[in-house]
Amino acid sequence: MSSSFRNQQEQWKKEAEKVTERFPERKETFETSSHIEIDRLYTPDQVDEEYVEKLGFPGQYPYTRGIQPTMFRSRYWTMRQYAGFGSAKETNERFRYLLDQGQTGLSVAFDLPTQIGYDSDDSMSEGEVGKVGVAIDSLADMETLFDQIPLDKVSTSMTINAPASVLLCMYIAVGEKQGVSKEKLTGTIQNDILKEYIARGTYIFPPKPSMRIITDIFGYCHENLPRFNTISISGYHIREAGSTAVQEVAFTIANGMAYVDAAIESGLDVDQFAPRLAFFFNAHNQFFEEAAKFRAARRIWAKIMKEHYKAENPKSWKLRFHTQTGGSTLTAQQPDNNIVRVALQALSAVMGGTQSLHTNSRDEALALPTEESARIALRTQQIIANESGVADTVDPLGGSYYVEHLTDKIEEEVNSYLEQIRDIGGAVQAVEEGFMQREIHHAAYEAQKNMEKGEDIIVGLNQYQIDEEVHAELLRVDEELEKQQVEKTQSIRENRDQLAVEQALSQIKQAAQHSDINLMPLILDAVKAYATVGEICNVLRKEYGEYTGM
Ligand code: 3HC
Repeated sequence: MSSSFRNQQEQWKKEAEKVTERFPERKETFETSSHIEIDRLYTPDQVDEEYVEKLGFPGQYPYTRGIQPTMFRSRYWTMRQYAGFGSAKETNERFRYLLDQGQTGLSVAFDLPTQIGYDSDDSMSEGEVGKVGVAIDSLADMETLFDQIPLDKVSTSMTINAPASVLLCMYIAVGEKQGVSKEKLTGTIQNDILKEYIARGTYIFPPKPSMRIITDIFGYCHENLPRFNTISISGYHIREAGSTAVQEVAFTIANGMAYVDAAIESGLDVDQFAPRLAFFFNAHNQFFEEAAKFRAARRIWAKIMKEHYKAENPKSWKLRFHTQTGGSTLTAQQPDNNIVRVALQALSAVMGGTQSLHTNSRDEALALPTEESARIALRTQQIIANESGVADTVDPLGGSYYVEHLTDKIEEEVNSYLEQIRDIGGAVQAVEEGFMQREIHHAAYEAQKNMEKGEDIIVGLNQYQIDEEVHAELLRVDEELEKQQVEKTQSIRENRDQLAVEQALSQIKQAAQHSDINLMPLILDAVKAYATVGEICNVLRKEYGEYTGM
């Protein structure tokens, strides 16, 4: 045994003991059905320096085998179903249903008007209110959204980007109304504008002011919300746009580096914000490539943070991520087949060491999920956790000749992309030049051609088809909802202290052009006065203009 291996092993054992004080392992001993004891971790009998450098121990740099010493033996990943539709009341009911069914984290889907900073009564919102997520205009909606949900007991992810500062301030304000102080709030805002320019599209402002708002959030949360993850640097949508697994990791990490650079430029020390950076990846088809992708991503990020940015806090080196199974792989044909696809994709995320997971519902190629479909999706996670045994040892694929080869190859190809992006001048420059978009479009075109030629088989779509009517009962958002939401927001406007709102909005306007003033406290004052998402975003639109795309 190499001495560094023995040292790392000792260190790992010590850390595991410390961790199991807060997170004891789920069982005294873990056994297979034949009563064969399952060890916490398996390592080769003969190890060389390369093993230590490339793999090492879980919870140890470079974290290839996982970011925690005992991983799911102590705590399962967070089962965090993305949910939201219609009014805050309807979504609150779905949240409470999913929590009752055993999900362990919340994840808010906002409707498009909210995501692009328009109120429900804005002409731009017509026909979209509550359609792809919950309609949130004012703090009143946010209070309804979290009614009977204690914010000191749950962690909440919010898929919000351009208006992330506003929704985070509303969340803080709801916490205060519940008597929960900022320090106790846990959760994540997606807050990742670069991937919106690249793949998703819910941006508002040009890159420079967008990055300023993002780094204001980093600074504000460092001071006030120590347990809140300030960004979820996303590869999910890059993959949904048709990228390869390598491009997904490469472009996400490149974006991550751009956020780190921006935060450092804004005057923050890397260890002040990096521990609260989080990531979000896709779990797509090709099981082993997906599991290897996550392992490679951890190692790449750890090396970048330790060696390139010289971060000293190990928490700055750990890539913590959420995974969602691949929405774009779902078929409208034979929807029940999607339950199997999602199970395999979820398994790859678990075997890859995800911290949090959303499993798609079988009907999501057709509509937002019904309660029954959402329950089956959650049950999929619960079966993997409690029945498959894969959570009973750490990094079970570690040591597989195939998976270690894939992990190395993905790392190599990601690093080659990162070099190209560095030569262009970094992610912001690469986005503005359309480099990532072109790479993704090319990959998507190739994949589409292979599917149309039948080279890539999609069961039920280009092989094994049947004649079928879409019988499944689908979720429909009541058209009446838009009218009710508009009336509700207009009555909020009529009954609030209008002077307080105008003063708060003018404070934001004045501060917008002064990057040495953090906008967050001013936005918090505005939301507490019941200023709306649209009103606040419109003030910033006037100051920054709107981005018209690449
Ligand atoms: N040993 C020791 N400690 C452990 C442990 C273990 N095995 N497991 C967990 N822990 C600890 C963690 O360290 C953490 O403690 P800390 O807060 O003191 O650091 C605590 O337990 C909670 O664990 P995690 O932080 O790992 O899990 P969370 O679920 O709270 O956070 C995350 C996971 C990835 C860091 C976070 O960013 C997150 O929840 N992300 C979710 C993002 C999301 O849901 N996005 C949805 C987007 S939907 C979308 O965009 C698609 C749409 O457009 C279609």
